[in-house]
Amino acid sequence: MKVLGIMGSPRIKGNTDLLLDEALRGAQSRGAEVEKLVVDKLNIAPCREYYRCLKDGNCAIRDDMDDIYPKLLDAARVIVASPIFFYGLTSQVKALIDRSQAIWARKYVLKQHLPESGRKGAFIAVGATRGEKLFDGSILTVKYFFKTIGIKYVDELLIPGVDKKGEVKEHPTALSDALELGRRLAQI
Ligand SMILES: Cc1cc2nc3c(=O)[nH]c(=O)nc-3n(C[C@H](O)[C@H](O)[C@H](O)COP(=O)(O)O)c2cc1C
Repeated sequence: MKVLGIMGSPRIKGNTDLLLDEALRGAQSRGAEVEKLVVDKLNIAPCREYYRCLKDGNCAIRDDMDDIYPKLLDAARVIVASPIFFYGLTSQVKALIDRSQAIWARKYVLKQHLPESGRKGAFIAVGATRGEKLFDGSILTVKYFFKTIGIKYVDELLIPGVDKKGEVKEHPTALSDALELGRRLAQI
């Protein structure tokens, strides 16, 4: 089983990165083949609304998304991991999600058949504050992204109150919860 982890934070070895690594380690411990995309290190332009994708399902922009589209459609499990920036996902991961409009066009406009059956995904997020709605906007975005690429949103790990680099290591359960999420995801 292929598990694709999308690491949306620009901070390497920061909270999101540490949580995603644990989740991928959990999936690996259940025999999954894992791959991590560090979105900040990739060249992914924001969507420019050229709308070439409406004609043939392909984006007009040539960059690292060329290699990412097949990965999004091939992985049996996808984990999106992001810190909360202004009540949303980071712009790095949002660019990747917006560029999935090409997949949306293949599915809903061109009525192409996309691989869907049994593919599942999870969301991992971390934020500094503890506001009641801290994760709401990002959850909606990730759910709609998953729906577009044919993935069922089945799990989440949402950690409020964590701010400094690596502070998540001091959280009583976050890292073990991430490991468990990865194990669960690879087994369901
Ligand atoms: C540009 C920016 C915007 C942020 N916006 C929020 C926010 O709206 N709510 C919040 O609780 N934390 C916010 N934070 C704090 C981060 O979510 C927090 O520091 C998180 O632990 C960073 O995770 P990372 O180490 O994985 O990058 C923001 C941080 C930055 C840099």
